[in-house]
Amino acid sequence: MMAFYPDIKLVHMGAAMSSGTLFALRALSLLAGLRWPRAAAVRYLSYSIDTVLLTGAMMLLTILPAGMFANGWLVAKIVFLVAYVAIGIAAFRPARGHRARAVLVVAALLCFLQVYGIARAHDPWGWLLWLGG
Ligand code: HEM
Repeated sequence: MMAFYPDIKLVHMGAAMSSGTLFALRALSLLAGLRWPRAAAVRYLSYSIDTVLLTGAMMLLTILPAGMFANGWLVAKIVFLVAYVAIGIAAFRPARGHRARAVLVVAALLCFLQVYGIARAHDPWGWLLWLGG
């Protein structure tokens, strides 16, 4: 299975970037008053990308040795991921006002960036590591 590790990681990273890009495009279009972000086809595309993302994640999790997650980066990543999903769902609620939706979209995108930063750094602090010097 280890022989497939580079390919699985590439698929996981590609799906992660597609997922974040699609969320950002949908959220910004919704803020601009467009209707396409709520279309069924777009939602199904989003679910499909996230299924690939999570399948890759589970495969990586089983391939890699547990010691690789010893500093807690994966737990921190999942905490920010849950926050990203929850805030993202809240941002898409139809009854939301424009300002509240904008704040939620920015918060969700910051959580996504932190998920990405934690994954790249293999450290629970993610991008914040840069601030520490
Ligand atoms: C929005 C969601 C996610 C994003 C943006 C994301 C992003 C990334 C990125 C960029 C990498 C490559 C890190 C590197 O360069 O070494 C990675 C690897 C990985 N991710 Fe994710 N990921 C997400 C969700 C998940 C989830 C839900 C899990 C597990 C429950 C997970 C588990 C892993 C594992 C085990 C690796 C392998 C680390 C390595 O090979 O060094 N990811 N992820």
